[in-house]
Amino acid sequence: MGKNKLRRFAELETMERVFQPGTSHENTDFELKGLWVQRVFKNQNPLVLELGCGRGEYTVNMAKRFPDRNFIGIDKKGARLGRGAKTSNEENILNTAFLRIQITQLLLFFSPKEISEIWITFPDPQPQKTRENTRMTSARFMEMYKLLLGTNGYVHLKTDNLVLFDYTLEIIKEFNVTIHHCTDDLYASGIVNEVLAIKTTYEKIYLEKGLKICYLSFSFQ
Ligand SMILES: C[S@@+](CC[C@H](N)C(=O)[O-])C[C@H]1O[C@@H](n2cnc3c(N)ncnc32)[C@H](O)[C@@H]1O
Repeated sequence: MGKNKLRRFAELETMERVFQPGTSHENTDFELKGLWVQRVFKNQNPLVLELGCGRGEYTVNMAKRFPDRNFIGIDKKGARLGRGAKTSNEENILNTAFLRIQITQLLLFFSPKEISEIWITFPDPQPQKTRENTRMTSARFMEMYKLLLGTNGYVHLKTDNLVLFDYTLEIIKEFNVTIHHCTDDLYASGIVNEVLAIKTTYEKIYLEKGLKICYLSFSFQ
């Protein structure tokens, strides 16, 4: 690991409710699997994940609005996730945590039905056909989300990328889902509430470029 990465890793280690298990959990269940709410948040409140959270704007801002829910921002990049963790620490937002892992490892970290909502905020579109498997809305990821959420949970996707949006709509046809909202122009749709109005770092960049924001929410049946 380079010097900068080591420094960032060390800095994250000093923060409360930041977990970066590294490669030690590549094949074994993490000790908090099924126990996040009891052990980390010390309550029985619903658990919400933000996947590919970057700086964790959804995690932090939703946590402030909903003190009776718990939020975990997940990203593979420590520097980005560290920004959200720092804000949470500085502002003493106790219903957030940050987990630095690959999303492909989710089932080692969370139990079936442990999650009530999943937010996928501006995922990398991975346009090459050979990278399809790495899209966060591809079938293998959907299978994981279905297990983690059961039939009561919600998936939310925000993206500027119409190709990824259409791809996701095709993929969910393979699953039994109920669509709650589906729009390729969120800010013209009339459905924007205080949560949908939260803007991530990438969303701000896309809006400045004049791009429209697509939004989809659904549950598995
Ligand atoms: C385009 S950025 C969006 C970040 C943030 N959600 C936003 O809207 O500003 C995509 C994020 O997903 C993360 N990411 C991509 N693939 C991932 C994976 N397999 N596991 C964990 N994080 C991943 C990247 O590190 C990056 O921070």
